[in-house]
Amino acid sequence: MTLRTDAGLAEIRLRPIRPADKDALATGLSRLSSRSVYQRFLSPKPRLSSAELRYLTEVDFLDHYALVAVPARRPDVLVGVGRWVRDAEAPGDAEIAIVIGDPLQGRGVGTRLGVALAAAARERGVQRFTASMLPDNRAAHRLFAKISSELQLTRQRGVDELVADLVAA
Ligand SMILES: CC(C)(COP(=O)(O)OP(=O)(O)OC[C@H]1O[C@@H](n2cnc3c(N)ncnc32)[C@H](O)[C@@H]1OP(=O)(O)O)[C@@H](O)C(=O)NCCC(=O)NCCS
Repeated sequence: MTLRTDAGLAEIRLRPIRPADKDALATGLSRLSSRSVYQRFLSPKPRLSSAELRYLTEVDFLDHYALVAVPARRPDVLVGVGRWVRDAEAPGDAEIAIVIGDPLQGRGVGTRLGVALAAAARERGVQRFTASMLPDNRAAHRLFAKISSELQLTRQRGVDELVADLVAA
């Protein structure tokens, strides 16, 4: 995901994702470092299919909720994306994932997205976030510690499975 070098953190806005974001999402993914792609998808993911782009941008904001981070002056350019998807069999649970473009990582945008996603989730009856992350992904672990003070972590096949309680938070 690209960021103009003159776009400071204060100029980053969050807004709901929309169907017209398909090209920007595909472009953003193509510009992510392979490390960030692997941390987000836990596998290499070179490009998204049309069906995946539809799934990721045409969301109902009830069971699938997604926000994007954009420069205020370029709301068509995505510098970050975060979403949660409700578990159909356990409606109080939702899986969350966030990715921030490499140039902007470590500047608080992921935390802003995470906090906003958690607020929207609580309003829609989600009680727990689940997330999968690499054990050495310190930024992701710290981000979730800011969303909830009640975290459970289990390690399965080299991946940390985290459950964040949104009610106790
Ligand atoms: C993980 C990710 C979403 C965090 O977003 P971010 O905007 O970079 O993080 P923030 O600036 O909001 O910082 C969140 C916390 O992580 C810490 N942090 C940020 N980058 C870090 C790094 N490289 N190493 C260690 N800690 C880091 C911050 O200090 C902050 O913790 P603190 O407030 O307790 O000090 C982002 O780095 C990213 O997109 N990574 C690649 C994809 C990914 O890992 N997604 C998570 C899968 S759910």
